[in-house]
Formats: sequence, structure tokens, C-alpha cells
Amino acid sequence: MTLPSVRKAIFPAAGLGTRFLPVTKAQPKEMLPLVDKPTIQYGVEEAIASGIEQVIMVTGGGKRAIVDHFDRSLELEHYLEERGRGDLLHILGEVDDLSNRLLITYVQQKEPRGLGHAVWTARLLVEGEPCAVLLADDVILSAARPALKQLIDAHGKTGATVLAVRRVPRSEVSRYGIIATRGSKGGIHEVTDIVEKPPADDAPSDLAALGRYVLLPGVFDELDRGEPGAGNEIQLVDAIKRTIGRQPVVGVEFEGDYYDTGTVPGYLRANLMLAMKREGLREDLIPLLRELLEASPEPR
Ligand code: G1P
Repeated sequence: MTLPSVRKAIFPAAGLGTRFLPVTKAQPKEMLPLVDKPTIQYGVEEAIASGIEQVIMVTGGGKRAIVDHFDRSLELEHYLEERGRGDLLHILGEVDDLSNRLLITYVQQKEPRGLGHAVWTARLLVEGEPCAVLLADDVILSAARPALKQLIDAHGKTGATVLAVRRVPRSEVSRYGIIATRGSKGGIHEVTDIVEKPPADDAPSDLAALGRYVLLPGVFDELDRGEPGAGNEIQLVDAIKRTIGRQPVVGVEFEGDYYDTGTVPGYLRANLMLAMKREGLREDLIPLLRELLEASPEPR
């Protein structure tokens, strides 16, 4: 049996970014830079490299900058040409190339009712196909197969809803959806339960579901029920959980460097790590970091 490949990916991007206020007051958190590229661009690049053909961005108010970023800017192109800065045009061309390789559509989540609700908002565009979900906060860089492609390949093998999982320290399990498993084969775990943000002493394991999913249509049927869960929000994890037993759900221990940019410390860490990997920046950063460590400035 060959399963149809996964062609569509949902990017929930309607969050208010309260952890990053005030910078997110008038700017979507998805547009915060990781070095010199907006965070969401890393996810879009991963989606394309994984064979995705259509991206559905679920946005809310104040997210215009995301639309503009993936649109062509003729004004900026002309400006650069006129000012003799044609050498920079290839950077715009690279972003333009991404959106040329995709159909990007936008749907509005009119009220912030949780991740599950955001995903559900895209249901009419998903049209009953298995589809991917990428949380832009979770940046995963892989030298070989992109993380989402690893999930899509596992979906091809198992026909299951697939979660990207990784072991996290016990002290951090309450930040994630945590899975319970029954046996695993080649890094693919059979999922028997999943709990959103359990307390450390009540977590079924230390395997966290991070921000990549391939969902079977049955998950949308469960989201249709609109039942609120943890934090009184409609949780994606709860909908996936309710499909267990009726449809296969597996977790893939993915390979790649994972950056959680959804908190200020995580975001700063990601910026530093990525800058250190960039030739031309690394050389400046190393002495700066040494200097900082020696001076160890006091907080103001
Ligand atoms: C969301 C999901 C959670 C998942 C996490 C990964 O939580 O609800 O299950 O483990 O992303 O980053 P959030 O970080 O949006 O609170």
C-alpha cells in the first residue's frame, strides 16, 4: 500500500507573543529574527525541503508582517537597484523563491482559543488529507533529512498520526505534551497516551512531543468537538489522544538540532548558537563572549 504523500502544512501563527512583550506589541513573534532571518522562515524552508506544496498560515490580528514577508517587495527591489545595491537583491530573491515554490494561504483565527482551535481553523483547506503542522517557535535544523521529512517518511511506513518526540529532563516535562509508549522499533514509538503539560511526578515518560506533527483526518473530527482542556484551551494533544485506539499514533525520535525559541532565554540561546555557526559572525562573537565572561556584568 502506498499512502498519498503529505502535501499540506499548517503553521499556527495567531499567538499574541505575550512572553516577548513589548517587542511583540506591534510585531508578530514569528517575525522575530534568528540572526537575520525571521523565525517562521526556518519552518517554511523545512516544509519545502520536506516536500510540502501548500502552507496554511493561521494568523490573527497584527500579523500583516508575515504576509508581507512572503510577498514580493517591488518597492524595495527598485530602491536597491536605484541606490546601486543590486548586490543585495539575491537575498530578496531567496525569500521570493520560497513563496514561488508554495501555495501560501492565510486563515484567521478570530479568537485565541488554543493550539487545537488554531489547527481546526484550517480544516476546510486541509480537505480531509493527512497534513503536517509546524510550530514556528520550535526550530529544528538537520544537516541530513529535515525533521518534518522524517515524520512524513514514518507516516508513509505506518499510516499513523506522527509526533516528533525527544527526551527532555524530568524537570521540564510540564512544558510539553508527554507521550506514553508501548514498544518501539527503529526510533518509532507506538503511542498509547499523551498528556498536555503534566506535572513532573505524574508524567507518563520523559518523551516530549515537540512542534512537528503529521495528522490523520480523524484528529480534525476530534477537534470538531471543540472541547477545552488544559488551561481551558482547545488542545491539539487532547484531540490526538482521543484518536488513540481507533487510529495508529506513533512518535518519532527525530534527528537534528532543536531550538525552543518560544521563551526569551531559549530565543537568546538560539540566536547565539546560530550566530556561532555562521562564518563571518563567529570570529567576532568568540572574543566578545570571552570579554563578557571575564567582565561578568551585573544586572541593572
Ligand atoms: C505546544 C503544545 C505542546 C508541545 C509544545 C512544543 O505548547 O501544546 O504539546 O509539547 O508546543 O513546543 P506551547 O509551547 O505552545 O505552550
